[in-house]
Amino acid sequence: MKDTYLDLVNNSPLKSVAKALGLPQPVELRRYGRGRDLVSAPVLVLGTSDTADAVAETLLGWELEVRRNPVVGERIGAIIAAYDNITDPSRLGSVTLGIGEALRALTPNARVVTVSRARDAQAAPAANAVASGVQGILRSLAKELRRGATANGIILDGVGAEAPSFTGALRFLLSARSAFVDGQFLTVETAGGALPESWDSPLAGRTAVVTGAARGIGEAIAKTLHRDGATIIGVDVPAAGQSLASVMNQVRGTALQLDITAADAGEKIAAAAPGGIDILVHNAGITRDKLLANMDESRWDSVVAVNLASQLAMNEALLEKKAFGAAPRVVSLASTSGIAGNRGQTNYAATKAGVIGMVEAAAGEFAKLGGGINAVAPGFIETEMTAKIPALTRQVARRLNSLQQGGQPIDVAEAIAFLSAPQSGGINGEVLRVCGQNLVGA
Ligand code: NAI
Repeated sequence: MKDTYLDLVNNSPLKSVAKALGLPQPVELRRYGRGRDLVSAPVLVLGTSDTADAVAETLLGWELEVRRNPVVGERIGAIIAAYDNITDPSRLGSVTLGIGEALRALTPNARVVTVSRARDAQAAPAANAVASGVQGILRSLAKELRRGATANGIILDGVGAEAPSFTGALRFLLSARSAFVDGQFLTVETAGGALPESWDSPLAGRTAVVTGAARGIGEAIAKTLHRDGATIIGVDVPAAGQSLASVMNQVRGTALQLDITAADAGEKIAAAAPGGIDILVHNAGITRDKLLANMDESRWDSVVAVNLASQLAMNEALLEKKAFGAAPRVVSLASTSGIAGNRGQTNYAATKAGVIGMVEAAAGEFAKLGGGINAVAPGFIETEMTAKIPALTRQVARRLNSLQQGGQPIDVAEAIAFLSAPQSGGINGEVLRVCGQNLVGA
């Protein structure tokens, strides 16, 4: 669905009118393309920790220009701020004000990435106050940035900068792959995972099953995982067979017509991937919105069956059949409705919050296989689902995030591709929001 307001404020005389009236001024977000620069201007690395030094080394290895102090008059493509050696709140300002000084030099679509320690109730109160304080800084800063710039954080939970998933998360957050991820934290909690041979094809040699692959976000996921090197098995209901076949033709994948609520769904999926499933994306989902006072059993039950019960059953069946390959990665679609709640969506929010509970509790089981399971929670994404929202409500809903626009299916797909990749092996049981930092709710 086209966002006409975004086009108008960027390509017409309305631009200056919007500015004068203080109306939202969303900009076209920079998105990933093979061969495009990772970051378009020098990167400023702030902080005095070993991590800051290691980050500078990593960036040089990626052939980026690195600065440890701002250079007067020079544009900056990204700021990385290391807080991980700070244990006293009186030192929070040293790094944070350094970020502030550099903000005016940021290019459009720039990135700010903080690196900090995990909160730990057993730590000294001052150290834990710092860990928590960084979250307040980051979330507020993300709301101040404009022109497509984002701010996100990496939390090191008992690991250091040498963890492959720290490097993987850093690259994802710096890159245009994270265009609609804003105000979020990624926690790296194990030294697991491995850096890919090629950052452009991190999924080479992996087999991925994507449910609901016939259209919308599922189609984008199938195409993105294929672009990153994976072999795709796309699943969708028989009624969507034609579109599924068309998508699978485009990615040279296998189409599997199957209702995921069928009792033998796990068995059929296992049979379609005899070499083992390396990546499973639980994307298929439905809405049957009604205020709870008007909710009937069929609306309630169908949403629970498709969005949650089928995923639990499929995970269990595939684990039992040992149908996963080595170090499998599972990603499940949650929603910001499951985090903040949404009027008319008690059924949908129950399942999307349920998915978050599911990945939390299943993380240990997948870790035993050397793998992991995470959730991605999209906010407002431009799809057939959101095109059904009444026009005025849709216009308002699009602006209610820090980037002042809806995300594209590709933005969700990029986050899923990232979490599916070997370099994300140290990230497990988490929820990554792809919502442009929704201003409403949690
Ligand atoms: P969509 O309705 O465009 O596509 C969903 C796909 O799942 C369809 O191809 C459908 O045929 C398939 N499907 C439905 N029931 C199935 C079943 N029983 N077995 C097999 N396939 C089935 O939805 P969209 O917008 O692409 O959403 C994809 C996922 O993202 C869903 O889980 C949705 O809840 C979630 N999401 C979407 C957001 C948005 O803004 N569009 C926001 C937050 C979450």
